Amino acid sequence: MIKLPNYIVHGGDYNPDQWLKTPEMIDDDMRLMKEAHINSATVGIFSWSMLEPEEGVFRFEWLDDIMDKLNKNGIGAILATPSGARPAWLAESFPEVLRVNENGIRNEYGVRHNHCLTSPVYREKVRIINTALAERYAEHPALTMWHVSNEYSGECHCEKCQQAFREWVREYYHNDLDELNDKWWTGFWSHRITDWSQINSPKERGENHSSALKLCWDRFVTESHISFYENEAAPLRRITPDIPITTNFMRMYDRIDYQKFAKHLDIVSWDNYPDFTGGNIPDKAVYTAFCHDMFRSMKNGQPFFMMESTPSIVNGRPVNKLPRPGIQTLTALQAVAHGADSVQYFQWRKSRGGHEKFHGAVVDHSGRSDTRVFREITRTGSLLEALGGVTGARCESKAAVICDFENSRAVKHFCGYNNERRDYFDECVKWYRPFTEAGISVDVITMDADFDAYGLVIAPFLYMLKDGVEEKIREYVRRGGHFLTTYLSAVVDSDDLCFLGGLPAGSLKEVFGISVCETDSLFENAPGKSSFLGKEYDVEHVCDILSAEGAAVLGEYKSDFYAGKPSFTENSFGKGTAYYAAFRNDGELSRDVCAYLVKKAGIKPDTNLKTSEGVIVRKRGEFIFVMNFTNEPKETELDGKYIDVLSGEACGSSVKIGEEECRVLKQL
Ligand code: GAL
Repeated sequence: MIKLPNYIVHGGDYNPDQWLKTPEMIDDDMRLMKEAHINSATVGIFSWSMLEPEEGVFRFEWLDDIMDKLNKNGIGAILATPSGARPAWLAESFPEVLRVNENGIRNEYGVRHNHCLTSPVYREKVRIINTALAERYAEHPALTMWHVSNEYSGECHCEKCQQAFREWVREYYHNDLDELNDKWWTGFWSHRITDWSQINSPKERGENHSSALKLCWDRFVTESHISFYENEAAPLRRITPDIPITTNFMRMYDRIDYQKFAKHLDIVSWDNYPDFTGGNIPDKAVYTAFCHDMFRSMKNGQPFFMMESTPSIVNGRPVNKLPRPGIQTLTALQAVAHGADSVQYFQWRKSRGGHEKFHGAVVDHSGRSDTRVFREITRTGSLLEALGGVTGARCESKAAVICDFENSRAVKHFCGYNNERRDYFDECVKWYRPFTEAGISVDVITMDADFDAYGLVIAPFLYMLKDGVEEKIREYVRRGGHFLTTYLSAVVDSDDLCFLGGLPAGSLKEVFGISVCETDSLFENAPGKSSFLGKEYDVEHVCDILSAEGAAVLGEYKSDFYAGKPSFTENSFGKGTAYYAAFRNDGELSRDVCAYLVKKAGIKPDTNLKTSEGVIVRKRGEFIFVMNFTNEPKETELDGKYIDVLSGEACGSSVKIGEEECRVLKQL
């Protein structure tokens, strides 16, 4: 039985192996961690060369000491496996472990995330060190979780990977070259394959590759990462069956299908680095909210971990501005509001050298605890303790936005229509935003998820329809669901082959009561116009020209030669309703449409608190988070009796939320 911590984890990456020559620093760390209400430290992420300085020679004494010290001080250890970066001896003795780029050139030793995913030697070496770690610390009382590797990413194009890819493709297409040629449509440009050995990994930008080949490569890369992870996790699972295992994901990195990968984790975790230092912070807060909801939805709403965030600045942006006081606490509580059971940082103590020596840390080079940053982290820690009751609580959503990683890759690969502007994730956020701004919880799901849990499902730019999804949409609407999709949806199947017989695919024409006549693309700064329920909106980048075949027309184009043609339709089908928003909009239309849809679908905000611009209200369990992302104070009226969970005080008839502040309430 997997044991997850029953408190909010507050901690972060801790690299004491960089400080072994100054043991007094490590004693200081323990004292300071307790002062900052830190209850967890993630150790060993990049420690391979300290753990195995020579092949087969293990040095665990320093880590024993750290684990003991953490335990003595009541701090749990999230123990990492070190595969994210490797010792020089390993690359020197076995050059095959290093990655080969898409031009066939092997990388030199150095950097991190530089390993071949297929290399049997690398997998074996990783298994050996992971086994040794698990055996050594299986019974250690500090061990709370496994952190496998770090931010898996990238790909390798070496001959071993090519061979593995060929085998993967062969299995995928049932050992049938004819099937492969059909699915890859290789008659085009005479690319017919007559032997599996002719298949090679595609180039990222190579336009001479069929997009089906690129999708296969994406799927192969995801599965290589998953099997690499499984190889890492196997000894951990065997030796420590009740310790949860995770690996940290990155925002919207779609080179790996996280939605598939998440099924292999005991708990999802991700690294959150929003740029809350300038620009439109409320806008960026919605983007971050979207990510939290997406990661939470990857395991059916189970709480997740925010494995990294910065305590202050980062170091890799062109200009690394300090976030204003309060932003760190707000970032932490936002994560918890959306389902995080942890607030963790990169990094506890600033390294003295190396690439990240100017990246923010809880403890600066000064080593002092009277810094602004240290004090804010300490405050966050004590707030998280006050919020302990939220641990494990779930967020309940009645609406969902589909944001599907495989669809994202397919959208990136095709050539046509508007090649300049087609960010799929942005489009998903655009349709997610109005719900979040209205205080309505939303899940962010894949097209394979169970729609029946929701009264309303929005599927922006659902270009690819995987097998079975057409029927699923039809059944969902027939049984009473409300389903909206937009332009360029239901265009291709899972091999990126266009559906024949007109769009949207197959029986969806009947479900939506429309057919798509043509698709236009618009030049930047030359938007078109369309109406929706009598109001006018800009049409951006791309739009479908519709013919209504049974659907009610709620909007029509007002510009170009297709003025007067339908641009927004609504169709009753069975007990439900299907909506088609045929053009890309700048956010105004999606806001008005969402307000219309929630009424139609009978969806209510999570609470009766009024939201205002820049303020996000979120309910998790019984806890109501009121987050002000603006730099001016706000006030919200309260209807009923509430207490402030963080201060323990009763609230009056309204609640004031300071600039960039979060209040947490409970209704009595
Ligand atoms: C993360 C990474 C950390 C550290 C951090 C700096 O992506 O996992 O190891 O590099 O970025 O922001």
